[in-house]
Amino acid sequence: MCGIVGYIGPRKVIPVLLGGLTKLEYRGYDSAGVAYLDNGKIEVIKEQGKLDNLREKCSGIETDNTLGIGHTRWATHGAPSKINSHPHLNGSGTIALVHNGIIENYVALKEWLIKKGVKFVSDTDTEVAVHLIDHFYFGDLVSAVRQAIEMLEGSYAFAVISSNEPDRIVAVRKDSPLIIGKADGENILASDIPALLEYTRDVYFLNDNEIVEMKKDSIDFFDIYGTRIKKQTTKIEWDVTQAEKGGYDHFMLKEIYEQPRALRDTFSPRLKNGIIDISEMGIDDDFIKDLKKITIVACGSASHVAHVGKYVIERIAKVPVEVDIASEFRYRHPLLIKDQLVIVISQSGETADTIAALREAKSQGVKVAAVVNVIGSTIAREADAAFYTYAGMEIAVATTKAYDTQLLSMYMLAYAMARTRGTISEEEYDRAVRDLSLLPEKAEETLKLKEAVQRIAYERFMDEDVFFIGRGVDYALSMEASLKLKEISYIHSEAYAAGELKHGTIALIEPNTLVVAIATQEDLIDKTLSNIKEVKARGAYVVCVTTEKYRAKFDQGVDEFLILPEIADIEAPIITVIPMQMLAYYITLNKGFDVDKPRNLAKSVTVE
Ligand code: G6P
Repeated sequence: MCGIVGYIGPRKVIPVLLGGLTKLEYRGYDSAGVAYLDNGKIEVIKEQGKLDNLREKCSGIETDNTLGIGHTRWATHGAPSKINSHPHLNGSGTIALVHNGIIENYVALKEWLIKKGVKFVSDTDTEVAVHLIDHFYFGDLVSAVRQAIEMLEGSYAFAVISSNEPDRIVAVRKDSPLIIGKADGENILASDIPALLEYTRDVYFLNDNEIVEMKKDSIDFFDIYGTRIKKQTTKIEWDVTQAEKGGYDHFMLKEIYEQPRALRDTFSPRLKNGIIDISEMGIDDDFIKDLKKITIVACGSASHVAHVGKYVIERIAKVPVEVDIASEFRYRHPLLIKDQLVIVISQSGETADTIAALREAKSQGVKVAAVVNVIGSTIAREADAAFYTYAGMEIAVATTKAYDTQLLSMYMLAYAMARTRGTISEEEYDRAVRDLSLLPEKAEETLKLKEAVQRIAYERFMDEDVFFIGRGVDYALSMEASLKLKEISYIHSEAYAAGELKHGTIALIEPNTLVVAIATQEDLIDKTLSNIKEVKARGAYVVCVTTEKYRAKFDQGVDEFLILPEIADIEAPIITVIPMQMLAYYITLNKGFDVDKPRNLAKSVTVE
């Protein structure tokens, strides 16, 4: 959702900015640009389309400039054109700014500025910010930025330079991420950690309305009143190689294959003497025993985790669970109760809708635990407690390993709570702990479905509509299977509770329509089989995803199988998702689309 970067130091700035933007391209890739100081003047280079276009445009430029800002865009206001891409300039070209977020009151501000004689050149909301800073600029960029943001409503992370103060970058954030990397004789800022790792592991996380003035040898922070504040650095321990493809063709494939490791890293540290320790959720035994309700709030794939979580937590820990899509949550005026827990799930920890939901819950005095992947992210910091998934850095826009570790977290929570609440026998608990420990191996085995999946993908990549059906947790998993396929292959697909299909959607089943039926739950097999027969009777081509022990049930009724390793029914979604991710991946490869950067999407959506 737009990535920004800023660098000051001895290096040639254009390659540094392009390198940083490469690491941020997952945030948006419809246009990109850089601004840098050259002989006291601001130079801007922008290009429409992916970053490679900008890279090409910059390739002939050989300069020694050492200060600049860059941006990769995911368009909100104004088409993804060159003119609308960032950096934006003030009228005299002495101030340049990059922005991630949305200025909500930009229409009123634009009118106000136009009356003062300002000329606008783009359709963006962002351009008001640079003109506003210009309006308040009298030789002190920090002060101008501070006064400008007092007039702004919405969300923003800005990085600003001025040719009158050629030794600094000023930046500020509110509801959009911004991280400052402190290095030796050089400093760098960016929307996300991967862009900084080449230079430093010591970072400052900027809080809302904190302003930073970054020079080559110093970093100073100010609050909204201009008072100097002190901040501590955090050391980032991530492995830099995670940001490389490591021999895989795409990040998505690499991340699919990293799932056994990710599951192990998420589970092992929480297994203490045979007991699942969920103390990082910030809920003690008394709270768990008295728990009346859990509300899980998330967006996109993370909200699909919530649906599996609902089935699992209700079944195992006997706590009622409601699931909310974060963008709806606060606007439906949710009735939260005492003795309840809100769980927010987020890979990035920066999703604007999820942050808003978290704040809504906290404003009602309810405890909020976050299941989150990015350490130090806004959600991790603002929630009462952060339970980290250790998927590691996820680069492909379509989530895979983060989703699966979020899923695992739901099971860990369910079993741990069940033990405390006495809703599970000791035997069943021990069985679960054993099985969860074995998940990395099961995931490894599941990856062997690759060839079977590739074959189906090759046969079916020209399909225009695909349906995923299932019951119970299989239905919840179908939602993710369907989203994976549509977001990267652009094939229309829908997930349906198998029993619901006949109430309308079955009208869309034609001869040869692909239906992927997920059926891993013994108590629901016969029912799902009936639903498979209904679509077969209308000519559907059915791929059945099940385990060997249930295969015989479907033998006559389906066209293809994807057979999963043996696993306890309830935990099947954790491995079922793997062939579904691979199916989306290989279908997309056959179609020749960009798997890692699908059109119109961004990995981290920091606007509402
Ligand atoms: C975006 C991404 C999705 C992701 C969702 C939630 O829409 O494209 O893949 O599931 O945001 O992201 P989060 O970082 O909060 O998990």
